[in-house]
Amino acid sequence: MTDQAVHPGRPETESQAPGQPLPQTPFSQVLRHSTREVHDRAHHSRYMNALLDGRLTLEGYTKLAEQYYFIYSTLEDAADAMTSDEVGAPFVVPELHRTQALVVDLERLAGPGWRDRITPTPATRSYVERLREVAYDWAGGFVAHHYTRYLGDLAGGQVVGKLLERTYGVTGPGARFYDFAALGSPSAFRTRYRALLDAAPWDEAEHERIMAETQHAFELNIAVLDDLADAAETHRAA
Ligand code: HEM
Repeated sequence: MTDQAVHPGRPETESQAPGQPLPQTPFSQVLRHSTREVHDRAHHSRYMNALLDGRLTLEGYTKLAEQYYFIYSTLEDAADAMTSDEVGAPFVVPELHRTQALVVDLERLAGPGWRDRITPTPATRSYVERLREVAYDWAGGFVAHHYTRYLGDLAGGQVVGKLLERTYGVTGPGARFYDFAALGSPSAFRTRYRALLDAAPWDEAEHERIMAETQHAFELNIAVLDDLADAAETHRAA
């Protein structure tokens, strides 16, 4: 059992035979395991609860899309820089990019001239600052933020996409952010993405740094959702 101590936080596997070296748990599994708790806090944040319960107006949802515009335009600007990085480049998948979809959505949801009216919340400013610090020239930092956003959009994000149609009757422009048709099957893509995480040339120390940055990425998202929850009082559905 001593091996277990060497790999704190790695999930134990049934196939572990006494005295045998611990089979190497794929990094994608370790990363998912390490973010389970913070993911639940994001999922059950005040803003997400109010949105999923249908307690917000469409304007209340639009506030989230506005903050996403600042976050995705920066993340995708970093993706352009990462195309020349040997380790980061395989993760740059244009079909994932959301900035153009958000431009179409905000034209419908926030109206013409929306660019002049939207402002980042304090938490969004910190998030964008962090992306500028770590996502342009550190492949691990880029992937930590890339994973947190895009794998989330391909999973739980789809729940929000369906909610826009069910609660507000919004499909097409307004809900383009959730349309990943160009990517093909989301679950097949998630499998492909996990294989990229497992194949990347990172050692144990780099894995730890990436897990810490992913945890931080989730916390930054929760802070944005909390800023919106505070503001959402004015967007309560009647
Ligand atoms: C509306 C609230 C949310 C719901 C309903 C939700 C639901 C889910 C579900 C069902 C999965 C798949 C779980 C699995 O395969 O183990 C998932 C995965 C994921 N979610 Fe969420 N989620 C929500 C919010 C968030 C937020 C706010 C973030 C990030 C900021 C996020 C990031 C992720 C990530 C990165 C994964 C992929 C985990 C992996 O496969 O490695 N989710 N989510």
